[in-house]
Amino acid sequence: MCGIIGINSNKPVSATIINSLKKLEYRGYDSAGIATLSSGLINEIKSEGRVDNLEKNSLVQNMEGTIGIGHVRWATHGSPNSINAHPHSSQNVSVVHNGIIENSTLLKNMLVKKGHKFKSQTDTEVIVHLITENLKKENIVNSIKKTLKELQGSFALGIIFKDEPDLIVGARRGSPLAVGYGPNENYLGSDSYALKSMTNKITYLNDGEFCVIKKDHVEFFSEEGNKINKKVLELSNEEEKYDKGDYKHFMAKEIEEQPITLKNGIKEYIDSVNDEINIYNIPWKKNEISSIILIGCGTAYHSCLMAKYWFEELTSLDVNVDIASEFRYRKNRFKKDSLYVFVSQSGETADTYAALDLCKKNDMKTCAVVNVIESSIARDSEFVLPIHCGTEIGVASTKAFLGQILILYILSLKLGVLRGDLEKKALSLKLKHLKELPKLVEQTLLTDNKIQNVSNTFNQAKGSMFLGRGFSYPIALEGALKLKELSYIHAEGYPAGEMKHGPLALIEEGMPVVVLAPRDDYYKKTISNMQEVIARGAKVLLITNKSDDEVVSENIWETIEVESTNQDLLPFLLTIPLQKLAYYSALKKGYDIDKPRNLAKSVTVE
Ligand code: M6R
Repeated sequence: MCGIIGINSNKPVSATIINSLKKLEYRGYDSAGIATLSSGLINEIKSEGRVDNLEKNSLVQNMEGTIGIGHVRWATHGSPNSINAHPHSSQNVSVVHNGIIENSTLLKNMLVKKGHKFKSQTDTEVIVHLITENLKKENIVNSIKKTLKELQGSFALGIIFKDEPDLIVGARRGSPLAVGYGPNENYLGSDSYALKSMTNKITYLNDGEFCVIKKDHVEFFSEEGNKINKKVLELSNEEEKYDKGDYKHFMAKEIEEQPITLKNGIKEYIDSVNDEINIYNIPWKKNEISSIILIGCGTAYHSCLMAKYWFEELTSLDVNVDIASEFRYRKNRFKKDSLYVFVSQSGETADTYAALDLCKKNDMKTCAVVNVIESSIARDSEFVLPIHCGTEIGVASTKAFLGQILILYILSLKLGVLRGDLEKKALSLKLKHLKELPKLVEQTLLTDNKIQNVSNTFNQAKGSMFLGRGFSYPIALEGALKLKELSYIHAEGYPAGEMKHGPLALIEEGMPVVVLAPRDDYYKKTISNMQEVIARGAKVLLITNKSDDEVVSENIWETIEVESTNQDLLPFLLTIPLQKLAYYSALKKGYDIDKPRNLAKSVTVE
């Protein structure tokens, strides 16, 4: 998390830094800050909360300097206040940092003994003092090299120096960092998105590398301090214009955009004329893969769980699913015939990236399902399947979830056909239904009033549960995650059949419980589980699909019916009311829907 921007120019930079920081708020919005160099001094201004607060500060508006660094923070060490906000500066050096310095306490103790005085509770401040200390004996490049060696943990750094009016240093270990090139000015950013409004010419730093950015050129160094040459990439220079339109929140807009997400995905990956799947360049032969391991975090992990049901149903592959932060530290048995699929909206999630890196180091086959195609995960995977859902701004992932499960469903069909597990005729029927899906999602999106009403009950409850079986179980987890992340209501997702093994003890009179029971192979079993919670006083909101058969069950508090389709695709439709439930609950509570407390859109620390 956290976002970095640096500009070395011959024009004043503060206004451009502030504008770039606004774009970077998806990485953190606890506090923000800027430091520039003018008249031989480092000026630092920081504020708690959003970049707007920083911008309103009259000192920022009059800030001088043609070289500067800025930062938006997601707190790791020390509470989110203006003292802990970045940049952190000594008289000689100013630093912005993404990541975590794991040996900061040891380093701090050593520096305090040498007379350094600390102002903040952050791990970052040790970097400032270390560089200051090392500069006493070394030139800039050597002092940076020495400092980086002393740091343990992960970082992306932007550094300016009081005595260097034409120099920004950038350094990377673990956290992504990019350099951008402009006319008579050059830039540093935590990703290319941060730089896109200024340039489309980008160089990405690799782990361990650092760079020295001057106005007219940039030099790159290896971890050992040797000069290296790096490629300049030219990205598409189309900057996506993205605003809320007539919607109150990005999330509301993104929920409504889901039929377009599905249409785009279907157009890209389905050859409607020949009923084929347009994934032709898979770099491995069909007999080189016998198992698939799907890895992600949060909502992306739920996409992986969802995909497991499809891969098992439609292919003969062994399927496993893992949470990236667990996978990366376990003793995995890497097997040559496994395909590792990394699912991520941002493509920058630190744990997912580390899991990919681990697989690459073990020579495994890697595939990325991502939204941001310039991201680290996309760049470093062997094979990439973009989800094409456009920028997702709301911290709560909505259209990216539907985009991810669409691509994973299509991939399961493709591998099913390639391996001879799925016949052409069955594929054609499945594709026919898939092409009807965007329309069905559009119709399901019209259910609104009932969800608004039931959200009042959820808002008054101490906690809630989301239950489902089979294909609906990952959707229950996703519904619970959405509700807790947006409305801060405790919500637990559970397999409906597992309730009697413990969680049933939580059910008390009036507790709202969402039961996902579409008319699929699991329907009757789920309805029985629903009765078990009703019998113990739960207020059940049943979400099912439209059918000629009435639901034969009593004492259901409310029922919402989504459209009907084949059972593979029902999860797409069940997701919609759950997203809306979370949205309306947060709306009624008056919470910040697009930027919920304590969270960030892109989780770039582990
Ligand atoms: O960018 P990613 O898809 O890798 O992000 C993974 C999670 O951080 C993300 O899905 C998170 O759980 C969402 N905020 C949930 O709505």
